[in-house]
Amino acid sequence: MERMEQVPQVDIHTHVLPGLDDGARDEREVLAMLRIAVEDGTSVLVATPHARRCTAAAARTTADRLRELLAREAIPLALLVGMEEQLLPDLPERLARGDALSLGDTPWLLVELPDWTIWPEDLVERLRAIRALGFWPILAHVERYVPVQQRPERVLEAIEAGALVQVNADSLFGHHGPAAQRVAALLIRARAVSVLASDAHKPDHRAPRLRAAFERVSRLAGEDVAEELRRTAQAIVSGALVHPPQPDPALLQTSPTLLERLRSWVGV
Ligand SMILES: [Fe+2]
Repeated sequence: MERMEQVPQVDIHTHVLPGLDDGARDEREVLAMLRIAVEDGTSVLVATPHARRCTAAAARTTADRLRELLAREAIPLALLVGMEEQLLPDLPERLARGDALSLGDTPWLLVELPDWTIWPEDLVERLRAIRALGFWPILAHVERYVPVQQRPERVLEAIEAGALVQVNADSLFGHHGPAAQRVAALLIRARAVSVLASDAHKPDHRAPRLRAAFERVSRLAGEDVAEELRRTAQAIVSGALVHPPQPDPALLQTSPTLLERLRSWVGV
């Protein structure tokens, strides 16, 4: 655990910019969220409002104001800005026009599927089109997509197309249902996940906490895996290239036994 503490805790996916999307509503709410993040050990946090709900300019301006507020309130947190983009066919155009924001002006781009229930047939092409423009995609909360819950090995396609896979911290505790919890644990055990993030929306619901989730990962897959996840989040905000994971395809294709389901629920 001591080794892990040396790697700063970085949260690359949060909805903290007040009034821009369905996350924090006002300054009071965002301050409560950011105090929770700091208390939990986070030192760098990326605000990633839903791209379809605000402009890049509004996200940048709101983040600037929030940084002033952090300084006034003496909250020791580095705030970066990005967006959660939908992986739609027009994303390359949005990127080319400068309408889409990568994470902290690095090449890393947070993307989500436009529909929870549909795995795009041209996913590989969409990811490759982003990479061709010099951006490095991170696929958000993969465990929440129904097609991944049904066939976890689908993530291999995204990884082979050059995307990193992100899982939400609270999915590991069942906050998005048992199917998301089970597949999140499976993906972590199979070494398919590169980064954990909170996807925080409110102080009291999906709060910006990561520490307990890293401890859960340590129990599920070992401390080295948890440490690697922390290092990857840090590398992302530094704009460093991260090598794609080498997941175990056989493990991804096994349907879980009752014992494995129980283990993923209790985190052992
Ligand atoms: Fe999100």
